[in-house]
Amino acid sequence: MPDGHDSPDGRCYLDIMNEPNATITRFYRWNAPIYDLTRWVIHRGRPAAVDALELEPGDRVLEIGCGTGLNFARLQSKVGDTGRIVGVDLSTDMLARARRRQSPNVELICEDASSLALDRQFDGVLLTYALTIIPDWQTAIARAFEHLTGDGRLVVLDFGRTNRALAIHRRLFDWYLALNHVHSDRDIGGELRRHTDRVEILRPTTAYATLLRCRK
Ligand SMILES: C[S@@+](CC[C@H](N)C(=O)[O-])C[C@H]1O[C@@H](n2cnc3c(N)ncnc32)[C@H](O)[C@@H]1O
Repeated sequence: MPDGHDSPDGRCYLDIMNEPNATITRFYRWNAPIYDLTRWVIHRGRPAAVDALELEPGDRVLEIGCGTGLNFARLQSKVGDTGRIVGVDLSTDMLARARRRQSPNVELICEDASSLALDRQFDGVLLTYALTIIPDWQTAIARAFEHLTGDGRLVVLDFGRTNRALAIHRRLFDWYLALNHVHSDRDIGGELRRHTDRVEILRPTTAYATLLRCRK
């Protein structure tokens, strides 16, 4: 995948995207250079999300909306050199950053999560702080399940309703999230339960995030 804004298969060209995806792609065009420096303040809990995948050496893992690859090192430490990590993202600018964290067993794919159709299944599928941003998030969840093996684990870490924050904090925080195209009111748990009744809430919604794990 080249640097810049195009991908060889043409799927991530801005001019053929629908408008919601193009808006997100433009947003991450200017956010990619500052993403790692700025988001650590609010994006907490990624290590726990990777641990929740219960990966073993040699496992295959798919990260949807992988961004700049902040989960790659921990995923790599779980699956080892014999495992496989596939990172998917809509933004070539974010993927260009992820490439700096790419080890030989990491594959990067520029694709819309809601039309993902890899001819492979994975022992783990991970989405951290992506489902509240992906425009067609319900379809993205369906695609994620399709890529899961029979005994695989799907783990989601994302913003939930900020129901334990003080009202003033909540309004400010939700305003900040909205500026960043984050829809914290999405009922991700409810949508996951439409696909399986094996959904565990590993960490309930706090002022920031919910961690969920499911099996088919
Ligand atoms: C807040 S970032 C999270 C990145 C990473 N998972 C992390 O924890 O740092 C959201 C990511 O979702 C990606 N994204 C948004 N819509 C997408 C879509 N339709 N398909 C694939 N990725 C998408 C964005 O490009 C961005 O990299």
